Amino acid sequence: MKSIPEPLIFRKNKLYILDQRKIPFKEKYFVASSFCDVKVAIKNMILRGAPLIGIAGAYGILLGLRKKFNLDNFYKMKESLLLLRKTPYNLNYTLSILERLIKNGAGYKDLEKEVENIFEQEKIRCERIGKNGFKIFKEKQYKKILTHCNTGKLATGGIGTALGVIYKSKKIIEMVYVTETRPYFQGARLTSYELFKLNIPFKIILDGEASFLMQKGEVDAIIVGADRITQDGYLANKVGTLSLAISAKEFGIPFYVASPVSTIDFNTKGIENIQIEERRGDEVKGWGKTKWVLENFDVIYYSFDLTPPYLIKNIITDYGNFNPNELKMVQFHEERKEFTNA
Ligand code: MRU
Repeated sequence: MKSIPEPLIFRKNKLYILDQRKIPFKEKYFVASSFCDVKVAIKNMILRGAPLIGIAGAYGILLGLRKKFNLDNFYKMKESLLLLRKTPYNLNYTLSILERLIKNGAGYKDLEKEVENIFEQEKIRCERIGKNGFKIFKEKQYKKILTHCNTGKLATGGIGTALGVIYKSKKIIEMVYVTETRPYFQGARLTSYELFKLNIPFKIILDGEASFLMQKGEVDAIIVGADRITQDGYLANKVGTLSLAISAKEFGIPFYVASPVSTIDFNTKGIENIQIEERRGDEVKGWGKTKWVLENFDVIYYSFDLTPPYLIKNIITDYGNFNPNELKMVQFHEERKEFTNA
């Protein structure tokens, strides 16, 4: 069986980006030679997924700094990147690492090494999340799992977050229900493609079908990824997550979030401070040249929604599993790579 292709490859000052718009039909790379090319790729969803956006943005900065290495140029690029996808936190995380290095006098080669390191670390985080999640899944013997959006290799570069837990729990899982995740179909196109390649049994379901499956007793647990988690345990994730969490509560089904610490925004509290990305209505009205809605019909399209902590059973991270309310009681020290009491 063919493996899942690398979503990002950096070689000879070019970033090869797997064009996720073409998956599952074609495995083609978009070649980014400049900062602007990377911006185009992020804006147009050629790549997506919070951790991968963070990594790609860091490579973009690298390409931009190659032309003009100074802090001013860095800030200009940082500002324009952060406007592209406002909800995922990981770009803030990776760019803050680069900012610190430049301020401390690092040169281009040091930065190049650091970006490679950021990518490697993200893969390690996924492995750890997978292991931490497996502990729970094994103990509870969850067999029928529902997941939303795409949280696998295509979203992270590693084995994935929620999908990483599913991957590590492969031996006990009998079925994965994959929501379509309209309108971009990250579930139907990308997650099913990854599960197929991993040889894990799955069925694609309509987004609106999830509650009925829960009511029928077909779901043992739900696991999703995260685009941003606040210090007080609010989760911003792909639109539809909130409805899943509410239904899970109604039917007594445990709702898990799998997330690296690089997605946790320890500086933000409460939902009012999280910006929710609104995308172009065209993405809802059709796909490519095929339209299913008249051009002049109006659409509301928030790409993410916000799930309160009381609907979340556990947040599975690379540094252990937390009740979402516990997050405000801990502080993460990046340099020591550990949590301590706040
Ligand atoms: O709009 P997308 O495809 O970038 O949204 C992705 C998601 O919402 C994922 O669930 C999230 O980034 C977690 S990926 C590990």
